[in-house]
Amino acid sequence: MIDGKKVLFSGMQATGNLTLGNYLGALKNWITLSDEYECFYSVVDMHSITVRQDPAVLRKRARNLLTLYIAAGLDPKKNCIYYQSHASGHAELAWILNCFTYMGELNRMTQFKDKSAKHADNINAGLFTYPVLMAADILLYQADVVPVGVDQMQHLELTRNIAERFNNIYGDVFTVPEAYIGKVGAKIMSLQDPTKKMSKSDENPNGSIYLMDDPDTIMRKCKRAVTDSEACIRYTDQQPGLKNLIDIYSACSGCTPQETVKAFEGKGYGDFKAAVGEAVISVLKPLQEEFDRLSKDKAYIDGIIKDNAEKANYFSAKTLRKVQRKVGFPDRIR
Ligand code: TYM
Repeated sequence: MIDGKKVLFSGMQATGNLTLGNYLGALKNWITLSDEYECFYSVVDMHSITVRQDPAVLRKRARNLLTLYIAAGLDPKKNCIYYQSHASGHAELAWILNCFTYMGELNRMTQFKDKSAKHADNINAGLFTYPVLMAADILLYQADVVPVGVDQMQHLELTRNIAERFNNIYGDVFTVPEAYIGKVGAKIMSLQDPTKKMSKSDENPNGSIYLMDDPDTIMRKCKRAVTDSEACIRYTDQQPGLKNLIDIYSACSGCTPQETVKAFEGKGYGDFKAAVGEAVISVLKPLQEEFDRLSKDKAYIDGIIKDNAEKANYFSAKTLRKVQRKVGFPDRIR
């Protein structure tokens, strides 16, 4: 609790171009929840270097992502929007938690298996212990709730296990966090292969809608989305391409999948795909305009980076000092 409010933590990697999946699965819910909680939204640049990065590109992308959080509607005066690398407590707590995490647990992480298959030439220890850093991110702020897409659930379960293990030894040190998964949009699939999640790292650019895609590109990608030959608008696992488009439409327009199906009853796929395109454009266009406006205001963004790094360090130091005492590190002399 901070000032009587429960705490929310979430983050995104500044790697690759953000997709509509990132927006609908995470960012959109962050905005909905931001009034209710004391929120920490991090640009998790330390996670990004588990895969080789061009330093200049990473720096640029991290700044763009931070700006995007604000452009999407998160008020940086109320929400702590900051770079993970600016709060050293993340790395310090991650080290301690490494000593409370088992190799077997990390070996079971599907994201590690996927990423090490993809980057076989660089299976570094950071890639392996990535979920421990993620646990540190969350536990450092005593977060009650963590809004994420379905793909992060396994990491969140591990975070809960680490927190409970630590608490069993040392007493109630950490809040055990709950995941928040949105009702629609928690797993947006590729437009070209609806059995795969929409991903920043997809080689086929037509599979993903990127947050910075222009309206024509969005419309073209929606119209080309893979569907089926049933020619009937239904929300079923047997029609995964269509189901995904219904999810996208519903999440963008704020209705339930059932309401969407009803609204398009008897319509052809062509009409529906065009409506999906329009719905996505209506969400992304204002976001892009606000992003362009904010990006030009260097002093404003710099001020936010500075103030919120201080805020993140202030709150994270409280937990870190407590944990350091618990495990037996000597007190600091002031
Ligand atoms: P990342 O950067 O891959 O994704 C950011 C958020 O977007 C969600 N997401 C999706 N949701 C729905 N459909 C999709 N196709 C889709 N693709 C991505 C993700 O679930 C995530 O919520 N390890 C995390 C970043 C992280 C983090 C944390 C998250 C680091 N520390 C602490 C929460 C709390 C990651 O790589 O997310």
